[in-house]
Amino acid sequence: MNISVVGTGYVGLVTGVSLAEIGHHIICVDIDEAKVEKMKQGISPIYEPGLDELMSRNIEAERLSFTINHQEGFRHADVIYIAVGTPENEDGSANLAFVEQAARDIAKHITKDTIVVTKSTVPVGTNDRILEIIKENQIHNMQIDIVANPEFLREGSALKDSFNGDRIVIGANNDYAAGMIEKVNEPFGVPIYHTDIRSAELIKYASNAFLATKISFINEIAAICERVGANVEHVAKGMGMDQRIGEKFLNAGIGYGGSCFPKDTKALIQIAGNVAYDFELLKGVVNVNQKQRALLVDKLNERFATLADKRIAVLGLAFKPNTDDMREAASIIVTEILIEQGATVIAYDPVAMENAKKLLHSNIIYAESVEESLEDADAALVLTEWDEIRNADPSGFQAMKSPIVFDGRNCFSVEKMRDSGVEYWSVGR
Ligand code: UDX
Repeated sequence: MNISVVGTGYVGLVTGVSLAEIGHHIICVDIDEAKVEKMKQGISPIYEPGLDELMSRNIEAERLSFTINHQEGFRHADVIYIAVGTPENEDGSANLAFVEQAARDIAKHITKDTIVVTKSTVPVGTNDRILEIIKENQIHNMQIDIVANPEFLREGSALKDSFNGDRIVIGANNDYAAGMIEKVNEPFGVPIYHTDIRSAELIKYASNAFLATKISFINEIAAICERVGANVEHVAKGMGMDQRIGEKFLNAGIGYGGSCFPKDTKALIQIAGNVAYDFELLKGVVNVNQKQRALLVDKLNERFATLADKRIAVLGLAFKPNTDDMREAASIIVTEILIEQGATVIAYDPVAMENAKKLLHSNIIYAESVEESLEDADAALVLTEWDEIRNADPSGFQAMKSPIVFDGRNCFSVEKMRDSGVEYWSVGR
């Protein structure tokens, strides 16, 4: 099928490339000319394992192309995916300006019957609004159908998730559109779940909010573990063996970050508020996460009378491993507080340092390796569980002025650290 994808951010690009890989003809449309030029050469603007290779292969096979020209992008499309961003407004609601603009662009340029598929995470009712905008603005009187098809891709394993996801949700209000989008997705071999548009819109928010709830829940259990002398890893393991609970997303630590959970939890609180429902549980989840990010600094303050003149190594800056994404990373708030309290911060991340430099306090010193950041440090904080950090030999901490480690991701064995003479503070253990 001929498919256009509007927006080549994380979701749009991965969607376009994986649809090309299963045999469709894809044109990705974006307004950023420099980015489009790069992508034409097979260079991905984001760090995602395997993406460059798949891009190049499909560009060569002439199944994948890029353009800034909407007319060219939409002319032959049987299906158009909207995958533009829905950033957070100041009040926590989702900003739909890009989605609405995409709808107007589509209306202006389509010349045949088209199915419009929304990949962007949008509040309930937005797909109805998109259809309305297209109908109001379309120049040629074509048949337009709309399908809500939320994405569940994790950064760092987005391609794997495309081909091995747990489900593809297709929300449509007629069988023709639902059937066509099922056909588009069939080659992925992923179970397909059909539902109505509004339920599909809500599935995305409810899923992310539920996962965020699991994380905040285990983080509160971790706080209790510390106070009663239990081990949160053992508690999570024992809980997770109950299949109704499941073992995933029960890793205690400094909370969730990234481009989805923080934004989507707040947006769902807003969505509920708009229909006069107070989503109390989710408000608690968000508050716990807020507190959790500063947990290691609280522990540092408990350990040291002052952080002024202390040299603090910060290991890991990205919001999670295998990504260079710094959005809503705990490192932002942690380094800010450390510097505010007068500490010298020496940071290291295997991939995210370039992005970090643009975002974090200009006083931060960047090291080339874990070892370099540890040299002469009074304490080390682990913020992201990169393999390189997780697999570091505990004896390496002896290079510090004093081997004191505050681990926000429970990367190391408590026993091994103790045996290596490290004063080790972790979460809930
Ligand atoms: C998430 C969802 O998983 C995905 O389905 C959705 O469509 C987009 O948002 P992503 O943001 O890439 O994906 O990250 P994810 O791997 O889910 O992790 C989110 C955050 O939760 C990270 O900061 C991670 O460190 C944290 N986390 C995760 C925990 O603190 N504990 C856990 O047990 C799991």
